[in-house]
Amino acid sequence: MDIRVDVRKCRIPEEALKEGRARADGVLERLWSGEEEFTGWVRLPMEFDRDELERILRTAERIREQCRLLVVIGIGGSYLGTRAVLHALAGRSVPGCPEIRYAGHHLSGTAHAELLEEMEEKDTCLCVISKSGTTTESSIAFGILKDAMIRKYGPEAASARIYAVTDREKGILRQEVREEGYAAFDVPENIGGRYSVLTAVGLLPLAAAGVDIRELLRGAEAMAGDPLWDDEAVDYGVARYQLMNAGKAVEVFEYYEPQLRYLAEWLKQLFGESEGKEGKGLFPASLQLTSDLHSMGQFLQEGSPIVFETVLNVLRPDADLEIPPSAGALLAGKTMNQVNRIAVEAVIAAHEAAGVPVIRIDIPQLTAYYLGQLIYFFETTCAITAGLMGVNAFDQPGVEAYKAEMRRLLSEE
Ligand code: PA5
Repeated sequence: MDIRVDVRKCRIPEEALKEGRARADGVLERLWSGEEEFTGWVRLPMEFDRDELERILRTAERIREQCRLLVVIGIGGSYLGTRAVLHALAGRSVPGCPEIRYAGHHLSGTAHAELLEEMEEKDTCLCVISKSGTTTESSIAFGILKDAMIRKYGPEAASARIYAVTDREKGILRQEVREEGYAAFDVPENIGGRYSVLTAVGLLPLAAAGVDIRELLRGAEAMAGDPLWDDEAVDYGVARYQLMNAGKAVEVFEYYEPQLRYLAEWLKQLFGESEGKEGKGLFPASLQLTSDLHSMGQFLQEGSPIVFETVLNVLRPDADLEIPPSAGALLAGKTMNQVNRIAVEAVIAAHEAAGVPVIRIDIPQLTAYYLGQLIYFFETTCAITAGLMGVNAFDQPGVEAYKAEMRRLLSEE
């Protein structure tokens, strides 16, 4: 059983689906042609360099031997994929692996000061990840944390505890790698940040944290190599496109297992940055259910009709508990997962009855293998919808505007 998509509750006319599917085939052909820029991720799972994989695994082992705390420094596509996978696998932590913390994904002095205190107490390694090697947030965090490492271990020993993933040639970080001799990996030139989780960007910290990265890649490869999944990805990509044409502006990713919190964050970046351009795109949002039914449920049921829902439904959660008699006759003797499943069905039925389109994605289980499938699946659907919209899924020209404004204000300070 693999990832399955159900778009039947979207009420998209069969004709519109058919027309979209025909166009999506053309988009897929272009993706696989290898001629488009930044599509290196398409063949990556099947063509992953085995030597690189071995080197990542060996380096991860060294990190595990060196530290109890690994700080992953990066922002956007340089950290969200790692956090998504690790959080989803939180129930499967592996003994002997370092705890993972994240830095450089915001500019909070308070949060970084707390982290410095923790670094004082625990043996630490840093893994700094930046494709450009020039991003403000990660550069600031790296500068501060590296100084702390030098104070604690001395310059040479600190360098032996710093790992970098960056562009092969360009950027200040690559220059520093050369000067300081950090162990380093490349971000492939033809893969953009938000599509890079299955490169060393995600694989190095994930392997150090004890995730079976071979399984992750095997899942992605199974997805890429199976003609059946094409239909699932195409249907989802086309449904999203047609819902946008029908006036929907917001896609709400809903998950009933809190472990999916950062997968939803990764999805928001993937879709938001890939599609939101030229006045087009769906605004990606996320809700944790059933928690957010008690805050946003009202809006979903009766608010502005701008929303459609995509339910991320885990079929076999990691654990379950029986409900005791004290919870009342209706619930006693059932399990939490049973009630959670009923909540999924009830919410879909109630929202569908109110006219809200609902897409359902069934995920067999939260394992490295299925997460590999999911990552590849969403990367592909995103490229399909963006292709149908006629926007470039792989650039982010709009991100530059605030950066330029920041530079201007910084130089005035
Ligand atoms: O998807 C993208 O390209 C971006 O979100 C980047 O990942 C993010 O801006 C971080 O960039 P960098 O890896 O160059 O530090």
